[in-house]
Amino acid sequence: MGSANEVIVVHGNGNLAGEVAVSGAKNSALKLMAASVLGRGVTTLRNVPLIDDIDVMGEVLAYLGATVSRTDHVLTIDTASLTRNETPYELVTKMRASIAVLGPLIGRFGEARVAMPGGCQIGARNIDMHLVGLEALGVVFDVDHGIIVAHTPQGLHGAQVTLEFPSVGATENMLMAAVCAEGETVIDNAAREPEIADLCNMLNEMGAKISGIGTSSIHVEGVPVSQLHPCDHTTVGDRIEAGTFLAGGALTGGPVTVRGIDPDYLRMAITKLRSLGCEVETDQDWIRVSRTAPLNAIDIQTLPHPGFPTDLQAQFMLLAALGDGLSVITENVFENRFMFAAELMRMGADIDLEEHHALVRGVDGLQGAPVSATDLRAGAALVLAGIIAEGDTTVHGIAHIDRGYEDYVGKLSSLGADVKRVSASA
Ligand code: EPZ
Repeated sequence: MGSANEVIVVHGNGNLAGEVAVSGAKNSALKLMAASVLGRGVTTLRNVPLIDDIDVMGEVLAYLGATVSRTDHVLTIDTASLTRNETPYELVTKMRASIAVLGPLIGRFGEARVAMPGGCQIGARNIDMHLVGLEALGVVFDVDHGIIVAHTPQGLHGAQVTLEFPSVGATENMLMAAVCAEGETVIDNAAREPEIADLCNMLNEMGAKISGIGTSSIHVEGVPVSQLHPCDHTTVGDRIEAGTFLAGGALTGGPVTVRGIDPDYLRMAITKLRSLGCEVETDQDWIRVSRTAPLNAIDIQTLPHPGFPTDLQAQFMLLAALGDGLSVITENVFENRFMFAAELMRMGADIDLEEHHALVRGVDGLQGAPVSATDLRAGAALVLAGIIAEGDTTVHGIAHIDRGYEDYVGKLSSLGADVKRVSASA
């Protein structure tokens, strides 16, 4: 677990070049762990990142009665004899992604009690679409003192559901219930993030019958939950971690090569790197970025996949902050994901915020300063900013980074950055 009283100190040496292997995708592995609830027995998950959020999901599964063990990047989860179908407030507030167990608990037990997740720094993070989608499958919900109480008086049945917004979480929760609903389910306007396809592939390896994987119209033919069985599945590479290191390479000129990632997951980010003036080469499992020309200004709209990912917005705002001219960055996915801008302005960036738009005027350079991470992506971007800033940058709130980046300091150091973790009281 990242220590709450540590900080990351970066000395601006302008160095980031070399090759780094990305870890497994946090935003897939967490849901694959939840899906293990649907198969009675031992599930093996490979390429699981060593990050704090995985440990919390492990606590959630252990609370349900599963036995979770890890050897390096391999997780084994024995769900043969679960003893609970509920997830308490203290675990859900620790990590709102715990809500991903709602669908599988309903699928396995026909009922569940999961604490309402709170909001977080980047937005309210409602789950109304999760509940509406599950209600269409026959789930009846009550809320009892902050606990969502789900039951299925007539059992789970298939339905044709169109999501109001291609919500990643809502798509996942619906999928994990629909696989064992009676009859056919069609999820239209489904999220198309690569992690959804990874979950669908694992569910099919468990005996589910899902088609339309990777499209916005996913078809599920329900099977009895007793027919779903554990499997051995390898998590896809983390496209957001990869995009973070690529942004670092674009910042310093690189070249930076990220390995263990399908470039097809980052088409829009690669397009934007090229618009920024970078050269980008790809092969089936690596991407290389370099830059010799000055950074151009850029316009970015964050959108559901395959649009530009909101989880790379902060990292690319940093690039825009040093671009030649005025960039406009529009955040369409979360209502409050510009806190990073305020921290970057402390380092000398010139940014005006107007509701969902950030107007970023390029400056010649940044100055090191004490800054605070507000979410894991902003934190990661602040460390990158420190690499090219003049002087030293101290990043506080690095527990955010530890939630989603495996050995971030070690990987950056291996690329030549002068970055270290120190005790905050040092
Ligand atoms: C997942 O969050 C990711 N988290 C997020 O990554 C990512 O930013 C997001 O998808 C979009 O790609 C995990 O997978 C653990 P959504 P999720 O449901 O599922 C609103 C990171 O940095 N909404 O697609 O919560 C919601 O408030 C994290 O790794 C509703 O209003 O994303 C948000 O504004 C940050 N009602 C928007 O939709 C709902 O029922 C997108 O949410 C559901 C969502």
